[in-house]
Amino acid sequence: MTVPTVPLFLDCDTGVDDALALTYLLDVPHVDLVGIGTVSGNIDAATAAVNTAALLAMCERAVPVAVGAHDPIGGAYRGGAPHVHGANGIGGVDLPPGVAAADDPAAELLVRQARAFADGPRKLDVLAIGPLTNLAVALELEPRLPELVGTLTIMGGAVWDRGNVSPTAEANVHNDAEAARRVLRAGFDLVLVPLDVTRQHRFDDADAARFTAAGDPLRVALGTMLSRYIDFYETVDHVRRAPLHDPLAAAIAAGEVGPTVRSTPLDVVLGGAEHGRTVPAADGPSVRVVVAAEDSAADVIRARILAVGPSPARA
Ligand code: BDR
Ligand code: CA
Repeated sequence: MTVPTVPLFLDCDTGVDDALALTYLLDVPHVDLVGIGTVSGNIDAATAAVNTAALLAMCERAVPVAVGAHDPIGGAYRGGAPHVHGANGIGGVDLPPGVAAADDPAAELLVRQARAFADGPRKLDVLAIGPLTNLAVALELEPRLPELVGTLTIMGGAVWDRGNVSPTAEANVHNDAEAARRVLRAGFDLVLVPLDVTRQHRFDDADAARFTAAGDPLRVALGTMLSRYIDFYETVDHVRRAPLHDPLAAAIAAGEVGPTVRSTPLDVVLGGAEHGRTVPAADGPSVRVVVAAEDSAADVIRARILAVGPSPARA
C-alpha cells in the first residue's frame, strides 16, 4: 500500500530529544519536511536553528530553517535548560556548521507554507515540539491558520501525570503558557502528546551505544548527546532511561506509531503556583490527548535514526 506524502512543518527548540525527533523524521519516506521553525526553549531560538541546520547538513538534507521567537509572549527568555540539554542545547556536542537560516521569521514561513498547501491534495500538518510562541505569532498573522492546516501535533503538557519543571507543569507549555492557551483555544485539529505518554517510552544506554557503534559522525554525535541526556534523567527518574518526548510526538504525527487518545476539554493555568499546568476544564476546548502509544515506538524510532541518510529510506 502506498502511503500518501504528508507535507510537514516542524517547530522545535533543538534540544537533544528534538535532534532525535528530527533525524527520525528525515528517514520517514512519506514525510516531506517543507520547513522548520525554531523557538527559544531548551536553548535560544538562534542556537536552536544552528543546531537544526547542522543536523540537516550531516544528513545531507536541504530544508528551510527559520529562526522564530526569542522571547515568550509578554515575557523574556529565561536561559533554557543547560542542566538537561547542555550549554549548546545538544549535550555539549560540537557539530560541523550547516546552511544559514532563512531570512523569514519562523511564523512567516509557517503561514506561507500553510497557504501554499491549503488548496492542494494534502494540507500541511504541523508538529510543535517546543514552546508554542511561533504558533501564537502565526495565528496573529493568519487567524485562519487552523482551517488552512491539517493536524497540529504538540509535544507538551502533563494532564494527569506530574510536571517536569514544576509539580504540575511541563516545560514546553510552562515556557510560554500564554501562547499554549491561545493555540489550544484557536480551533486546530489538535493532538496533544503530554508527559503522561512520553514517559512510557524511553531510550537507554544500549540505544546510545548502538548509535555510537554505527561509527559515522551523525550517529556518534547522537549517541554522545543521548548518553548525556540519560545522565540527567538518572538524576530525576533514578533509572538510566530517557523519555522519548519529541521523537514519540514525531512518530505519532508521522502515523508510524498508533496512539490511544482520550478527548478531553483542557485549559492552561496562567499565573500562580500552577502556572503552565494543562488541566481538564469543562469549559475548555476539546483536545485529543494521547494517553498511550504502541509498544513498538522505541523500536520504530531507533531503526529510522540508525538508517537515516542523504535520501529517505524506501518503504
Ligand atoms: C519537552 O521540553 C523540552 O525539554 C524537550 O525538548 C521536550 O520538547 C519535554 O518537556
Ligand atoms: Ca523540544
